[in-house]
Amino acid sequence: MSKVIAIMSVSLDGYVADPDDGVAEVFDWYFHSGDVEIHTGGSAPMTFKVSEPSARHLRGLISELGAMLTGRRTFEVARGWGGNHAWGPAFVLTHHVPAGWPRPDSTVHFVTDGLESSVKQAKAAAAGKSVGVHGADTIQQLLNAGLLDEIHVDVAAVLLRSGIRLFDHLAGTPAFLGNPRVIAGVGVTHVRYPVRKA
Ligand SMILES: NC(=O)c1ccc[n+]([C@@H]2O[C@H](COP(=O)([O-])OP(=O)(O)OC[C@H]3O[C@@H](n4cnc5c(N)ncnc54)[C@H](OP(=O)(O)O)[C@@H]3O)[C@@H](O)[C@H]2O)c1
Repeated sequence: MSKVIAIMSVSLDGYVADPDDGVAEVFDWYFHSGDVEIHTGGSAPMTFKVSEPSARHLRGLISELGAMLTGRRTFEVARGWGGNHAWGPAFVLTHHVPAGWPRPDSTVHFVTDGLESSVKQAKAAAAGKSVGVHGADTIQQLLNAGLLDEIHVDVAAVLLRSGIRLFDHLAGTPAFLGNPRVIAGVGVTHVRYPVRKA
């Protein structure tokens, strides 16, 4: 079944980026937590270097995904992933399609007709696999709208004190989540919660 899964690295105090949109601190585990190499593919390929538990976890998670859904700010900060996101076709929620996009030979699509449409389009592209979601604002909207199935956080062993919070604007709290699956890596703990639908 196609699920919608929030996937974010987060500091222990709840930030997904520093005040300058920087993710180096919360993404440090991707590049410096072990000797197992994972090559991402995509148009802006990266090599992760992680511990064995994180590698197993990442391979499993990535194999579940058929498409990505993100907010416009994540697209901008990631420079459009070079035109092709490593984890599948990417659907970018925005009020205005950016100049110079969409591009030929790109699997990045823009959705200007709202949240529900973005989920529908990403699920259709995922063809039965799951949709991964990046972007704090986008994830909060999905949660508030009851459109999110799981929250997967990679809790990085770092405190930031300020920056962009993952859960700033939640409606309907307290929102009790299901039991998490937990995988301990090195410098990171992978925690995945089912969202309980109202
Ligand atoms: N730690 C991690 O794993 C991780 C992963 C990805 C990103 N990040 C960081 O997270 C930050 C980006 O997250 P964010 O919460 O600031 O923003 P975001 O969710 O990526 O994007 C928000 C933007 O998307 C557009 N949008 C959202 N909902 C919409 C809707 N319903 N209809 C139309 N447009 C909509 C709007 O842009 P417009 O009005 O301009 O169109 C909105 O300002 C960056 O700092 C990035 O570095 C961290």
